[in-house]
Amino acid sequence: MNVLLAGGAGYIGSHTAVELLNAGHQVVIVDDYSNSSPEAVHRIEKITGKRVISYEADVKNKEKMRYIFSENHIDCVIHFAGLKAVGESVRLPLKYYRNNIDTTLTLLECMEEAGVNQFVFSSSATVYGEENKPPYVETMHRGSCSNPYGWTKVMMEQILEDAAKANPKLSVILLRYFNPIGAHESGLIGEDPQGIPNNLMPFIAQVAVGRRDHLTVFGGDYPTPDGTCLRDYIHVMDLANGHVKAVEYAASHKGVEVFNLGTGTPYSVLDIIHAFEKATGVKVKYEIGPRRAGDLSEVWADSTKAQKVLGWHAERTLEDMCRDTWNWQSKNPEGYKK
Ligand code: NAD
Ligand code: WQD
Repeated sequence: MNVLLAGGAGYIGSHTAVELLNAGHQVVIVDDYSNSSPEAVHRIEKITGKRVISYEADVKNKEKMRYIFSENHIDCVIHFAGLKAVGESVRLPLKYYRNNIDTTLTLLECMEEAGVNQFVFSSSATVYGEENKPPYVETMHRGSCSNPYGWTKVMMEQILEDAAKANPKLSVILLRYFNPIGAHESGLIGEDPQGIPNNLMPFIAQVAVGRRDHLTVFGGDYPTPDGTCLRDYIHVMDLANGHVKAVEYAASHKGVEVFNLGTGTPYSVLDIIHAFEKATGVKVKYEIGPRRAGDLSEVWADSTKAQKVLGWHAERTLEDMCRDTWNWQSKNPEGYKK
């Protein structure tokens, strides 16, 4: 199949591109490089030995997207092109609503014009909100979010459900990611946050490589075994493989399907620090600080549905996630810049 990856130069998109190419599909990457680098596309080609068609474009730009759809025969779209910094979304909500929702609408409209009927969406565990208790199951109602980023995911899921209701030809797969970490085993592609990382693993990796002095653990007094929050960390290559399964499933099914992509095993912040130290032999300096606003104490998936319906499950261990993160970070201390 020919798969258009909106935001395909980013962290999850680049790893998915590799897995799609390895599975024999073709990819067309559209990215404005607002949070990524064209170097990621070169690295995808280097890893796979295959050519990637890519466009530098804002997915909100309908004329440009129409042109891209007319130049390429597309079978399926995967929409990664979102802004994702939770804290920034609280400060700049309109930027988040504009980008995340407008990109979705533009893609759906261009797909309709071009007769493309398969859509895979990067959703998030955040849509379970504050009301539901883990393990989260796809049958639970979406909850309320503590930030605009989360609300954009809730709204986009609703938009996609309505679009599929109105168009019986449309196949929509909502993939709810838990906490992706790790990198491709080659160390050629990985997560490359701009500025100070918001997420745990890139922060740990930057402390380990000497770019930051220490990690602040956000809260040590949660009602969990060691007092720090529990999350479902998943290797980005397992997540990428879930997209391949989703794209292939979408080709033969209509309507909306929702899948959690997680491991089902929660780890605490301290577990992650200790696992990273063990896997890499590098010490991570940290101190326990105050809680971060909006953090839930426990988040993890029930991924039974993905296993049963897609035949997918996460295969890589926490040790793999830590080792591969470090392989990428130590080979690319400044990310794609050097
Ligand atoms: P990322 O920032 O690395 O990738 C997103 C890509 O989209 C970037 O390359 C960016 O340049 C591009 N982009 C953003 N807006 C664009 C626009 N208007 N036009 C063209 N390109 C645009 O983020 P990621 O971690 O790879 O996340 C991908 C998707 O998965 C996002 O929608 C994110 O919300 C979602 N998600 C991520 C996580 C996570 O922890 N990383 C968890 C759940 C959901
Ligand atoms: C993990 C744990 C922090 C940084 C976010 C989004 C979610 C999803 C994935 C994104 C938490 C702790 C973190 C630090 C810390 N979508 N932490 N010190 O918050 O689970 O999920 O990313 O697109 O929607 O909310 O991930 O990596 O930020 O935090 O102690 O410097 O690490 O408190 O317990 P989170 P995270």
